Amino acid sequence: MIICIGAGPGDVGYLTQRGAQLIREADVVAGFDAVLNVVQSLIPADAQVIGMAYRDQVAQLDEVARLHHAGKRCVVVFMGDIHFSGFQYLERVERACGHPVESLPGISSAQILASRAKVCFDETTFITFHRRGDLDPFKRHLVHVLQDQRNAIVIPCPWDAARSFMPWHIAAYLLENGISPDHPVEVWENLTRGEAEWHGSLLECASHTCSDMSIMLIRTLAPMASQIEAAPVP
Ligand SMILES: C[S@@+](CC[C@H](N)C(=O)[O-])C[C@H]1O[C@@H](n2cnc3c(N)ncnc32)[C@H](O)[C@@H]1O
Repeated sequence: MIICIGAGPGDVGYLTQRGAQLIREADVVAGFDAVLNVVQSLIPADAQVIGMAYRDQVAQLDEVARLHHAGKRCVVVFMGDIHFSGFQYLERVERACGHPVESLPGISSAQILASRAKVCFDETTFITFHRRGDLDPFKRHLVHVLQDQRNAIVIPCPWDAARSFMPWHIAAYLLENGISPDHPVEVWENLTRGEAEWHGSLLECASHTCSDMSIMLIRTLAPMASQIEAAPVP
């Protein structure tokens, strides 16, 4: 058995009960070191722990796949929810195993942000730049989302200088592409663990720096009016 589970946004209190049960019953628990730290208290003392970083993830996942094929119960833990900015890692797990792998959703940093900032998913588009490959289609999509008067929840890209696309780069890119400097922006850091929040305009965001563990909300300038029936007149 092998299953990929979302570990939640950082505080283990946000891990689902099903996720916690799967970790407690596992023979092998694998994942990036920072995510393993989140679920550390649930890992059985006799379980094998396979940590990894970007540089050795392929080799370490090959080892997890070998143990899975040898009949061990394996759990691979993902940051937040697998289904937002986690699919490339899922693809790596499936490539190592040679077959599709079951997944268990977790609570995403996007959900915590939506709750803190009181923003409705129905009127919001999710975009991540924290991925390998060509970011240009995602950049263009973000411009269209804002032109279409929707909110955007955005995961930035923190990697090396050549590729990094952090909130200040994102703001500068949007301004260059004709998006109004007046859009309200929020940047939230370390949600559920010593949170920090920043509020300002898109223009101000272009000179606001933050840590890698940040997620961004760009609000539409034209929020939807309520579409429920008018309140009864007292
Ligand atoms: C590869 S993405 C994974 C996102 C994850 N799948 C999710 O659903 O939250 C990692 C990035 O998500 C953002 N992130 C994840 N957890 C966060 C948190 N607790 N607070 C703020 N940002 C977070 C950061 O930008 C981080 O670099």
